[in-house]
Amino acid sequence: MTHQTHRDPLSSHLHTDTVDPDTLRHPDLDSERVPEHVAIIMDGNGRWARQRGLARIEGHEAGTENIRRITFTAGRIGIKYLTLWAFSSENWRRPKEEVDGILSILSRAIVTETDELDRQGAQLRHIGDLGSLAPGLQDAIRGAIDRTRSNTRLVLTLAFNYGGRQELVHAIQDIVASGISPSAIDEQLVERHLYTSELPDPDLIIRTSGEYRLSNFLLWQGAYSELFFCPVLWPDFGPEHLEEAVLEYTRRERRFGSISNTNSR
Ligand code: FPP
Repeated sequence: MTHQTHRDPLSSHLHTDTVDPDTLRHPDLDSERVPEHVAIIMDGNGRWARQRGLARIEGHEAGTENIRRITFTAGRIGIKYLTLWAFSSENWRRPKEEVDGILSILSRAIVTETDELDRQGAQLRHIGDLGSLAPGLQDAIRGAIDRTRSNTRLVLTLAFNYGGRQELVHAIQDIVASGISPSAIDEQLVERHLYTSELPDPDLIIRTSGEYRLSNFLLWQGAYSELFFCPVLWPDFGPEHLEEAVLEYTRRERRFGSISNTNSR
């Protein structure tokens, strides 16, 4: 994540035979149908490392490098909101050495990557429980969020210390504490109390590494999301895989509980 220049992802992964050099988009990608919000469960760093005889933390280092190129690709193909799940509220159960390693990668990445995010016009946000991270890390995350607040090209949301059930418990606690009458509670009110209150629901949720689960990710927000499961391990999930997921999304029909337009008789 720290060594590449911002054009590297383009030069090494643009597969120039298939991408329109003017729009930098895959020719089959209908820009009108690109999902507004893509959320990714970045899975498989540990297996990626094991396959190479490396320590798990080296898989997380490689996974972090990949965040940069996927963020770049998302902006390039016109995705407006990219949400990446980097650490779940259950990940504290991992060996201390691994947890400390991930926290230290995050601390370092916040320092080294904020300039680049800013340069790309990306706004950083966070969802999850920030309060139980070390005060210095909380300050660094808040600083990066403040610094990039006015950027509009892409909103990059990092789900760190995030869990969907915890988010709902937190929202219910807030709502009860506000003393509102039960009959005044509706879906919009619940949404206003979620971490994602300023984000649209994800149109597409991608999980890498061949696991077919949501594992407590965006439980409320993902009610109508399209799901895309990809066997590739996160560090190897390249621009071409993101484009493939988006292409497949553009070919699906979303009905939101209704019926198909072509099936209305
Ligand atoms: C899953 O791989 C991935 C994670 C637990 C977290 C992802 C973390 C990073 C990309 C690095 C730190 C994040 C930032 C934002 C700097 P896994 O360990 O579950 O892989 P496995 O299932 O193969 O064991």
